[in-house]
This record gives sequence, structure tokens and C-alpha cells, in this order.
Amino acid sequence: MDATMSVMRVGVILGGISSEREASLASGRQVCVHLNPQKYAAIPLFMDLQARLWHIPQKLLIQNTTSDIVPRLEGEAERVCYEDLRSLIEFAFIALHGKYGDDGCTQGLLEFLRIPYTGSGVLASAVCMDKYMAHMVLKQAGVEVARELLVEDLGWEEDPEKVRNEIVEIIGLPCVIKPDREGSSIGVSVVSEKSEIDGALEEAFSWDNLVLVEEYLGGLEFSCIVLGNDELQPLVPTETATENQYLTYEDKYMPGQSQKITPARVDREVLAKIQEEVVKAYQALGMKNYGRIDGFLVGGNRVLITDPNSSSGMAPSSFLFHQAADVGLNPMMLFDRMIELALEAHEGKRGPL
Ligand SMILES: Nc1ncnc2c1ncn2[C@@H]1O[C@H](COP(=O)(O)OP(=O)(O)OP(=O)(O)O)[C@@H](O)[C@H]1O
Ligand SMILES: [Mg+2]
Repeated sequence: MDATMSVMRVGVILGGISSEREASLASGRQVCVHLNPQKYAAIPLFMDLQARLWHIPQKLLIQNTTSDIVPRLEGEAERVCYEDLRSLIEFAFIALHGKYGDDGCTQGLLEFLRIPYTGSGVLASAVCMDKYMAHMVLKQAGVEVARELLVEDLGWEEDPEKVRNEIVEIIGLPCVIKPDREGSSIGVSVVSEKSEIDGALEEAFSWDNLVLVEEYLGGLEFSCIVLGNDELQPLVPTETATENQYLTYEDKYMPGQSQKITPARVDREVLAKIQEEVVKAYQALGMKNYGRIDGFLVGGNRVLITDPNSSSGMAPSSFLFHQAADVGLNPMMLFDRMIELALEAHEGKRGPL
């Protein structure tokens, strides 16, 4: 008998068309390596820049970058049309990050195909991708967020001086300027002088039509994973520290570039307070299965939430695994738990999650 017959066929979707596709390749590979072989057969599905899916063999999965994979797809991988996905996989592990990945688009596609998937549903994923929209929801729920201003590209083009003045007067300097819907610190700048505003806005607008300007928060930056659908389990927050003005792309992914300390070096009561706010945010945003909520501890006791994320990096060194280890879950057990929770969330639903 074929050994894979009794196990669930899990499509691990990785790569994708967003700026975070390299991070996604690392995440997806880690998922494929650690899925429990007694329960699941991992089927790596690479999404190329045209959003086409390919079932890739191991020798492509282990390539360093997505650009090493792309030229070899035609010859070495098997193209999978969306309509055929359902006959190939029973469950989708979404290891995509960023636009068209964890922002509700892939989730919507899987809803059409009636394939259960990891992570939050369409709405929560879309809201988490849009930082300004997510902050609106958080404020409504009594969760503190930074002072902020949303700038649209048309408004900036029409009257740049008005925008510059608003930034200085309403937000103040230093401030953080970032694309409203991106990830991995792409397009982010810290601005200390009015003369730096133009460059920072142009950089952020090269990634998005909407740009968010936030007050610069000093203090301790944290990142906290939550597991669960209704009954929620916040893991222990990680402190992310850097010598730069903010956590850069390199800080996030290059080993040794920044410090990721789990648990964050604060009193137990403060850790509990962070977890409480994180859970409040997760619930307010309607997140399911798992998510990662980032924020700052200011002045030792104020917890502000800056960035709720509907997925999290899963490269081997990711703090997701440090936090999971803290509650006794190794990567295989963590993925088991995520899949179980996802199946539970999708069971019995009466419309898209
Ligand atoms: N208001 C702020 N004050 C100080 N630093 C900030 C602020 N907002 C963002 N940063 C810094 O910029 C980094 C990137 O910003 P943010 O977390 O909002 O975006 P992201 O690109 O979605 O990140 P991620 O990939 O972690 O989801 C943060 O990790 C933090 O170091
Ligand atoms: Mg983010």
C-alpha cells in the first residue's frame, strides 16, 4: 500500500509575488521539512511571479532563492491549475507572506476551492495587511496605537507642503514613515528632520499608494504569537532589539544582525500585560488559528500595538519557534497544532472564514 494513502495531503504554498517571497521560501521549506510524516504528506507548491502554482520537487525546494527556482520550473516542476488543486491537496499550509499571500487574496481563492487553510480568514487577513485599517479596529476595541496620519499619493502630489506641515504639526518629529500595506520593514524610514520627509514618502510610495506616518515610539519592541480560534493561547513575547533606529529587513532575516530575546527582559506582570493587550487585539481583529502581534512597551507600562500580522516568518531561526519551545512545542508539534486548529476553524463554517 502506498504509505501516503492514509495521511492528509498538505499543500505548502510558498514563494509568491510579494516583496517577501524570499522569506516565504525559507518559511515554506521549514514547514515541508517539519510536517509530521505520520500524519501529513507535504506537497510543496511554488507560486511564481504570475501567481501560477507549480508542484516542485525536493531539488528545487532546497534552492537558495526564488530566482534560482523560476528558470527551472518548466523543465523540472509540474504546473498545477487552480481548479485542479482540490484533487491534489486536502489542506493548504499558507507559507506566503505579504501582498496576495497573507492579505486575504490566497485565502479567498482557497475559500472558492473549499480547501481549509492555515491562518486567519479573508477579512481578518485583509485588515491585518492594512495597518491603518487595523489600527481603526484596535482603537475601537480600546487597544492603544501610535499617533498616526494616513497620506494618499494623490494628496501628496497635489499639495506636498500641506502634507509636510501636517506631519510636523500632528505627528511631530522624529516619526516613522512606512507603506500602509507591506511587511518585513520594506519601505520604512525614520525621519528626524523636515527635509527628510520627501525622500521617505517617495520611498514608501514606491511600494504602496497609501503611506502611514506614525509617531516614533521609543521603548522596547516586542513580538508575540497567539494560537487559537476561540480559546486563545498567547505565547511568551519576544523582545526584538537593534542598534539601528528601527528593525530593518537585514535585522529581521540576517543571523546575528539583531537580538531576539525570548522572553522579553521585563517583569512577569509586564509580560502578562503585553499578552493581555495582544489577545485583545487578536480578538478585535477576528484573527483565527495563529497570528503575530507586534508592538512597543513605552515607559515601562504602556503597551501600544503597531503591527498585527496574519502570518509569521518560519525560517529556522524565527522567534516563532523560540516562543513555541517555551510552551514545549517543537516545530513539528507546532505545525500539528496549527493544522488541527485550522481544521477546527473551517469545520462547520457557513461562508468564507
Ligand atoms: N511607530 C514606530 N515607532 C518606532 N519604530 C517603529 C514604529 N513603527 C515601526 N517601527 C519600526 O519599523 C519596523 C517595521 O515596521 P512595522 O512592524 O510596522 O512593519 P512591517 O514591515 O509590517 O514589519 P513585519 O515584517 O515585522 O511585519 C518595526 O519592526 C519597528 O522596528
Ligand atoms: Mg507586518
